[in-house]
Amino acid sequence: MLRPPATFATARLGARLPTADDAPAVFASYANDPEVTRYLAWRAYERVEPLAACLREAAANWEQRDAHLPRTWLLCLKGTATPIGSIGVTLEGNGHAMFGYVLAKKFWGRGMAAEVLTYLVDWALAQPSLYRAYAYCDVENLTSARVMEKAGMLREGILRRWHVAPTLGPEPRDCIVCAKVR
Ligand SMILES: CC(C)(COP(=O)(O)OP(=O)(O)OC[C@H]1O[C@@H](n2cnc3c(N)ncnc32)[C@H](O)[C@@H]1OP(=O)(O)O)[C@@H](O)C(=O)NCCC(=O)NCCS
Repeated sequence: MLRPPATFATARLGARLPTADDAPAVFASYANDPEVTRYLAWRAYERVEPLAACLREAAANWEQRDAHLPRTWLLCLKGTATPIGSIGVTLEGNGHAMFGYVLAKKFWGRGMAAEVLTYLVDWALAQPSLYRAYAYCDVENLTSARVMEKAGMLREGILRRWHVAPTLGPEPRDCIVCAKVR
């Protein structure tokens, strides 16, 4: 079974597994911020406890043999243990790896999302069983679309009415899909 690395590092960031104990720090860093979750599939948390449950589940996924479950890392500035964001990959079992990522607002605009996505896209496409690394973002989330391009993905098109961003409302929204293939 293909297993993503439990930890990895890029020039500025370290990635490690989440634990439920990270909930207060993740809450304060980005998970309680509706500007961060604006285009995401989840609403900003108002309390730490449900976030702890979510992180517990994310940690448990790493223990499961089911390779199709999302594997999520917390991102910390190198040399620190405080989470400033998160990135996840889902190995869909058909040669496709799908990515999602989020950073605390304080760290936006420094190229960090592209740095870490590039690392994981390159890892994915170095695996013999994977040939497509892709991600999608809301049509209005042009920063995220740019991050995908910086990670070597090409814009493939629009997925119409593809996801619901509850912060923006209940209506399914169009998404931009980008991929790097080999
Ligand atoms: C999306 C997100 C991860 C980007 O992280 P980041 O580290 O700031 O991104 P980077 O600095 O690597 O790259 C941002 C790029 O977008 C560009 N950009 C910013 N605003 C833009 C806009 N309105 N239109 C087009 N490009 C834009 C920047 O100029 C930069 O490109 P450049 O380096 O060529 O100049 C961060 O904004 C975030 O966490 N947002 C909330 C969560 C989210 O939306 N996640 C993505 C879900 S699909």
